[in-house]
Amino acid sequence: MKEQLIQRYSAAERINHWVVAWCFIFLAISGLAFFYPAFFWLTGIFGTPQLARIVHPFIGVVMFLGFARQFFRYYHHNFINKEDVKWMKAVGEVMKGNEVGDIGRYNGGQKGMFWLMVGCMVVLMATGFIAWRPYFAGLFPIPVIRLALLLHASAALALIAGIIVHVYAAIWVQGTIRAMAEGVVTHAWAKKHHPRWFREMTGRKS
Ligand code: HEM
Repeated sequence: MKEQLIQRYSAAERINHWVVAWCFIFLAISGLAFFYPAFFWLTGIFGTPQLARIVHPFIGVVMFLGFARQFFRYYHHNFINKEDVKWMKAVGEVMKGNEVGDIGRYNGGQKGMFWLMVGCMVVLMATGFIAWRPYFAGLFPIPVIRLALLLHASAALALIAGIIVHVYAAIWVQGTIRAMAEGVVTHAWAKKHHPRWFREMTGRKS
């Protein structure tokens, strides 16, 4: 029987997502290299340490703008409702493979992750600008720059931890990577993980 598919992401949405994801990877690599001496060798990926330092903030701006586009595409799908709270409370059961609640386009975990990403992006961008030599850092006193860098590193660590969970969940829930690679999911995937979204998309009962 032919597989029944639902479109979840357009090509433009997927390109947007992967631009943000690649920026994140380069930012995490260079950021960890600046933060911790044991990772300094990672600057070699950019050619020289100086080049890594120069491009890091520019890649940050590209990631921020790319994520801003994602924010305006998805924020209205990420408001947490009663069914999501049910899902969050029963997350242990979900881990065993038994979905809980009448879940829409995203589940409680995805929505929480979305708002974590939003918070981290705003802090990273604001504090990154304050610390950006030679362009903006001169406008701020040194203690402010130090505080900005502390917050920058904290937000970066939170985002890195969050993205590890995001990627793990995407691989672990079979059929999810296909949504961001080919743009489609199967009816079975949608029915199991996002029953309300399945009904909205197909007009059928799950
Ligand atoms: C690096 C490897 C990454 C992989 C393999 C990955 C994978 C995925 C997949 C498969 C989805 C679709 C989930 C679904 O529709 O149910 C998704 C959604 C999404 N991803 Fe990623 N992702 C990665 C990195 C990132 C990064 C770095 C960010 C931003 C900081 C990001 C932001 C998002 C957002 C905003 C969504 C939409 C979910 C929502 O609105 O709640 N992803 N990702």
